[in-house]
Amino acid sequence: MAMRPSMWAALLLPVLVLADSLALQPPATGCQTSCGGVDVPFPFGIGPGCFLPGFQIECINGSTPMLPDDSYEIKVLNLSVMPRPEARVMLHIAFQCYDATDGSAKDGASFRSAVIKSAYRISDTRNELVVLGCTTFGFTSSGPWGRRDSSFASGCLAYCDNDGSAMDGSCVGIGCCRVEIPPGLTDNTVFFLNDSASTWSHQGLGFSPCDYGFMVEKNTYDFRVSDLNMDGSSTTKPLVLDWAIRSSNVSSSVDNMTCTEVKGTPEYACLSDNSQCLNSTNGPGYICNCTQGYWGNPYLIGGCKDINECHDPKQYPCHGVCHNTVGSYDCKCPFGQQSKHNNAKDNDCTSKFPLAARLSLGISLGLFVLIVALLLAFIMLQKRRLDDLFEKNGGEMLKNVKGLTIFTKDGLSKITNDNEEFIGKGNFGNVYKGTLPDKTVVAVKASIKVDEATKEEFVQEVEIQTHMIHKNILKLIGCCLEVDVPMLVYEFAANGSLQEVLHDKKNQVLSLDSRLNIAIGSAEGLKYMHSYATQSIRHGDVKPDNILLDENLTPKISDFGLSKLLKEEYVAKVVVGCMGYIDPVFMKTGLLTQKSDVYSFGAVLLELITGKRNVYDEKRSLIIEYRKVYENENRGTAMFDIDIATEENISTLEQIGKLAIDCLKEDIEDRPDMTEVAEQLVMIRRNKKSIDNTNPDNWEHYQI
Ligand SMILES: *[C@@H]1O[C@H](CO)[C@@H](O)[C@H](O)[C@H]1NC(C)=O
Ligand SMILES: *[C@@H]1O[C@H](CO)[C@@H](O)[C@H](O)[C@H]1NC(C)=O
Ligand SMILES: *[C@@H]1O[C@H](CO)[C@@H](O)[C@H](O)[C@H]1NC(C)=O
Ligand SMILES: *[C@@H]1O[C@H](CO)[C@@H](O)[C@H](O)[C@H]1NC(C)=O
Ligand SMILES: *[C@@H]1O[C@H](CO)[C@@H](O)[C@H](O)[C@H]1NC(C)=O
Ligand SMILES: *[C@@H]1O[C@H](CO)[C@@H](O)[C@H](O)[C@H]1NC(C)=O
Ligand SMILES: *[C@@H]1O[C@H](CO)[C@@H](O)[C@H](O)[C@H]1NC(C)=O
Repeated sequence: MAMRPSMWAALLLPVLVLADSLALQPPATGCQTSCGGVDVPFPFGIGPGCFLPGFQIECINGSTPMLPDDSYEIKVLNLSVMPRPEARVMLHIAFQCYDATDGSAKDGASFRSAVIKSAYRISDTRNELVVLGCTTFGFTSSGPWGRRDSSFASGCLAYCDNDGSAMDGSCVGIGCCRVEIPPGLTDNTVFFLNDSASTWSHQGLGFSPCDYGFMVEKNTYDFRVSDLNMDGSSTTKPLVLDWAIRSSNVSSSVDNMTCTEVKGTPEYACLSDNSQCLNSTNGPGYICNCTQGYWGNPYLIGGCKDINECHDPKQYPCHGVCHNTVGSYDCKCPFGQQSKHNNAKDNDCTSKFPLAARLSLGISLGLFVLIVALLLAFIMLQKRRLDDLFEKNGGEMLKNVKGLTIFTKDGLSKITNDNEEFIGKGNFGNVYKGTLPDKTVVAVKASIKVDEATKEEFVQEVEIQTHMIHKNILKLIGCCLEVDVPMLVYEFAANGSLQEVLHDKKNQVLSLDSRLNIAIGSAEGLKYMHSYATQSIRHGDVKPDNILLDENLTPKISDFGLSKLLKEEYVAKVVVGCMGYIDPVFMKTGLLTQKSDVYSFGAVLLELITGKRNVYDEKRSLIIEYRKVYENENRGTAMFDIDIATEENISTLEQIGKLAIDCLKEDIEDRPDMTEVAEQLVMIRRNKKSIDNTNPDNWEHYQI
């Protein structure tokens, strides 16, 4: 047969109730925790098994909490466990009234006192004694009853002449007096002195016929004159009681337990972790309290809970950053700050660095930033300047030229190793030797200064030079435009210029064959140049200085083209120094033609056969002198370089001399062009070879 749940409950209920009543340390589950809006924390409790012995609360009519006292109604207002064990209750006041005519005790006067049970003591710190009356001495006493045997007593005297002397709000002895009370009071009995005959007689005091005395919570009672005539039997006042655990046997009068005695016994009531036992300070016994950092009910298992101190900065100050820990909390200053004694709970956090240090740090930081900013600005300006120069020198157009390498300023400095090796003076500045990253040896020289007017032409010239690829033309490899005057990077000619080889290094005599080869190579270079593309290109400055020789003495025509950009002042300054090579027609007309190059080349041929400079013996013009000799003798033999003017060479030298004379003709039309010059030189070499071959001295060389 099935049992309904209610039947089980009916069977189990008595057992549970029995268990509750036997249990030494309740509370049982399901205990009522409040009554009439008043919390009832353990050890207090309502109903069997819900309270510790001595801490029962009765919930009358389900809404009024009372201390269980048959003889006296003690209404409970408040019960607290922490921070202090207290109970606030309402107690009746003590009073007695007289007949105003004869001073006798009046009917209905009552004098009731509540003897408070062992757990409670009247708090001496939270209450005071108030006495009302006009000839009234009221006092309280502790110990055995009776005035003389009292261990201690305290009281005060309230007096007044007439019905007008007492004043509302003033409890200073006139109609009302107040006084501190001693600790250890177990009842609220107030004694009044009465002596109907004399001193304390109330005869004739119709305006104040009664004595009143009551202990009341401090700062709650405000004296009213009307209270001198109140109904004492219905008046109650709030009072604070201390409580402690004094005895496990409520019926016993022995209530002297202390922490040391009770610890470790089954009766020990401080059940929670993080709780501690404290001896009662008002009467015998002990109380429980949560240890610091915890809050809750120490009489319950697990009742003391960690406090999050950070949520209550008023109670738990922190001047820094608060961090809750179990049982405590950390308070640290934020980074870069510190507090006095390293205690941020009590002291303000201030910057670790003194003002001066902060100031100087700030200033140095500021300076640092300023310097960095200036540096950046400088770098940007520099970059901008380089960009501007690049643009000024036609960089935008040149960067697209195939076969031309554009070097940065830094790159160029690396290539020449900061102009380490000076190799000569060009028309526009020094020439330095350099090495490209791929180990190619180069010569770096300044170009002509470029401005808006000449930019386009400069670009055009550089482009042409880049594309002019011939073994007898010095190859332009690249340029650097991030400089005021563009720098040009050329292939390197190891033997220097014909000028040096022919005139300066006298110890190394150039053979006629070498000279002839140089003449032919140079002519081929100029020929190629003159026939390059459709444009009529001319060198403009043909002279031994501009014919460079590589390690095999292969001639390389250099420094051409840019002369087209020359301005008049340059012509005056530079070209005049090389007057001897300049076509007189150009001098007259200012018109530079390819035939002007032919004229200059003729001058170079004369130098090759005579070994003399263009201007020699201080002021003698080689061209004029040679022409003079040639016109007089129809041959130039007298002028030939004695180093090579051997018998078998004479014929060849004469042929070259004749060609030179042709090149130097006054009339442009009479001069051959470079193609003819080159062809004739080749012919001369062929003639020389056939002569050499008939010469038995040379047979060995050519027989193979
Ligand atoms: C409880 O209720 C009864 C009946 O209603 C009433 O007489 C009594 O005064 C009440 N007691 C308290 C303490 O309120
Ligand atoms: C009980 O006491 C606490 C603190 O002591 C207080 O906050 C609360 O208002 C009191 N309750 C009553 C009903 O007096
Ligand atoms: C005065 O004291 C006596 C004895 O102590 C007492 O019987 C009497 O009722 C008291 N009160 C008055 C008003 O006389
Ligand atoms: C409590 O004390 C009373 C009186 O001293 C005694 O008769 C009773 O046996 C005690 N009860 C217990 C449980 O100790
Ligand atoms: C408490 O009282 C009992 C009985 O009077 C006594 O035997 C005991 O010594 C007392 N303990 C203390 C600590 O006073
Ligand atoms: C409680 O009182 C006893 C006896 O006076 C004493 O020995 C003990 O140290 C006290 N304990 C505390 C926690 O104050
Ligand atoms: C109990 O502990 C709290 C918090 O630690 C403290 O404020 C309070 O004063 C303590 N109570 C007693 C009676 O020492």
